[in-house]
Amino acid sequence: MIDGPWTPAAVVSRAAELRLEQALTRIPDLVAELKRHSALYHTHDAPEIDDRTYDLMYRELELLESRFPRLVQSDSPTHRVGDAPIAELVPFTHDVPMLSLANAFTDEDLRDFEVSFHPRDGRVSGGLRLVLERAGFVWEDVAPIAYVVEPKLDGLACELIYEDGVLVGAGTRGDGLVGEDITHNARSIRNLPRTLHGDAPKRISLRGEILFSLEGFHRMNADRVAAGDKPFENPRNAAAGTVRQLDPSLAAARPLMFMAHSFGACEGVELPATHHEQLEQFASWGIPINPLNRVVNGVDGVIEAIAALGAQRASLPYEIDGAVVKVDRLDLQAALGFVTRAPRWAVAYKYPPELVRTTLAGVDYQVGRTGVVTPVARLEPVRVGGVTVTNATLHNDEFVRVRDLRVGDTVIVKRAGDVIPRVEDRVPDDGHDARPATVFPTVCPECQTPLTPMEVSDEDGGKKIVCPNRLSCPAQLRAGLRHFATRPAMDIEGLGDKLVEALVDAGLVRKVSDLFTLDHARLTSLERMGDKSATNVLEQLERSKARPLDKALVALGIRDVGESTARDLSRAFGTLDALLNAPAERIKKVTGIGDWVASQLRKALDDEHLRAEIARLRELGVAFTPVPITLDLNATGPAPVSDHPVRGRVFVLTGTLPTMSRDEAKEKILAAGGLVKDSVSKKTHYVVAGEEAGSKLTKAVELGVPVLDEAQLMALLSD
Ligand code: IVH
Repeated sequence: MIDGPWTPAAVVSRAAELRLEQALTRIPDLVAELKRHSALYHTHDAPEIDDRTYDLMYRELELLESRFPRLVQSDSPTHRVGDAPIAELVPFTHDVPMLSLANAFTDEDLRDFEVSFHPRDGRVSGGLRLVLERAGFVWEDVAPIAYVVEPKLDGLACELIYEDGVLVGAGTRGDGLVGEDITHNARSIRNLPRTLHGDAPKRISLRGEILFSLEGFHRMNADRVAAGDKPFENPRNAAAGTVRQLDPSLAAARPLMFMAHSFGACEGVELPATHHEQLEQFASWGIPINPLNRVVNGVDGVIEAIAALGAQRASLPYEIDGAVVKVDRLDLQAALGFVTRAPRWAVAYKYPPELVRTTLAGVDYQVGRTGVVTPVARLEPVRVGGVTVTNATLHNDEFVRVRDLRVGDTVIVKRAGDVIPRVEDRVPDDGHDARPATVFPTVCPECQTPLTPMEVSDEDGGKKIVCPNRLSCPAQLRAGLRHFATRPAMDIEGLGDKLVEALVDAGLVRKVSDLFTLDHARLTSLERMGDKSATNVLEQLERSKARPLDKALVALGIRDVGESTARDLSRAFGTLDALLNAPAERIKKVTGIGDWVASQLRKALDDEHLRAEIARLRELGVAFTPVPITLDLNATGPAPVSDHPVRGRVFVLTGTLPTMSRDEAKEKILAAGGLVKDSVSKKTHYVVAGEEAGSKLTKAVELGVPVLDEAQLMALLSD
């Protein structure tokens, strides 16, 4: 036994006041007790203390461990490490595909979901009623339909495999068929039992979301900032980044949690006949489920529950982006079945993006990698959906001018899911006229070089303003180095923001190629650069020299050469020299870019500074490793090479897709032999559009290019 009392206040003051000699025994006692209770709870199903007391003991241990880091025991339950780091993430195949859901945005959509007799394009539902009647059900007997309304957790979808009650595997959703194996990290999720209690099934694949509580997210970000690391943008990204870590001790140190919302397959136990009872069954095994799930009757009940949940949303301890509505009875679910990649018995309601008002406290001008200067709003901190927003994009000079945004104005800020917050508009007020107008700078805020307008207008219609000092503007150099190190480019993980800044400040790196002149002595001369980190960075730099041509091209940061253009160019020309000598006409042909962009790209490739930098990189060992030529130069445009639905077809992605990132979608298209371009033209075969799709969607409609949603894309890919 261990002494209490177990209240939050008592735990905090004990942990704060304990002296070293006391901690020497208290820490091992806490470790032993926590282990004993964990075993009683998970393995013997005979807990002696309640969850809250356990959590408070755990908290005391955490607090003491942070006060006395040298007393941390390797077997501490706060680590839950167990597994050794793995070399790489390996594929995880789902026995039963993980599906996505159709979306609803209005009450009207929800009503349609139940009664509409006319299937609408792009929606999976032709109306529940129609389908059930066709299946032989009498509407009056089954109505009002019982639905479960659940918070739609803004986390990372994953599947857990329990065999004979033991957690044996875990994988991310991936494309629904194959994800990534994250078993090593799932084992360290604190609210997840490694062993189920009660009568566990022989095997079950449980599905749910991995997420951060907002509190945990903020705590972790504060720690990161204190340690000089970049904070995560939002809880979802943080969760995704964490579960993909190779070293499970990193995930174990972060407060991830899991909540189950469905299952794939279950053997050896007969599950109840309604969804809500199934979830209760999971809970009885110790699997966390959401306490806010509600069973309601009919669409009216659904609409009410969704409104009630919406009202609670801002005060929830985690982020949700909507509500999921599911038919409760499994016999009805079975009759309703599936359409393409989504069940007909469920729908995801998405809350409208959140808008808040705050004061524009200032405008900063950020200089990007290519010299483009972007105004960024500094805001009076404001909470939107649990995340505090202090910055928001202002797009460009024109955006600011048209709305006449001035420091001191009240502005409306919008935050939608993963997207960077943006200022939408200004709220007119009496004080506005008296405030000084915002003036775009005339010289670069970093290097004082006079700014110049760029010849091309961007998607928002505003002219871009650039700092022309490509060679020695420190802001461009820093951004260029960061870009050089990213995963789609040279993939130099040890070269983070802090190091980039230190290298530039110390004058050790004046251009990108200088990176390859660094040595151990120079690196360790930097503050906070230890022997081990320096060796690591040098190893990674060395390894990066072998990057294939397409990745190295991306790394060079040539304007208009993003991942897809770089891939096309490499596939068509194979070697750097062939590309450097290619006529504009051929470049245009293989990439499908317009005349003007092709001529600009040709010019960029001839730029003497770029040529000199390439020559130096080669001298220093960067190989621009040739890739096989797989694009036919003589084909006229990217016409399909077969009647295959994807191979050789040109896709453009726009907007936020419901279940995967655009990068994931792109990888899948490329894997299936398709091409992905950045802009829509007559040669585009498909535009895949998600939420908040912008001008690319408009262009597609104008040109008559077929528009797919994610589900339709997945269907095409699985053909
Ligand atoms: S049920 C076949 N319930 O939302 C339906 N999904 O947009 C299986 N999600 O892929 C999913 N909260 O990752 C379900 N309470 C919830 C959910 C939920 C979040 C995610 C899930 C799914 C995506 C669909």
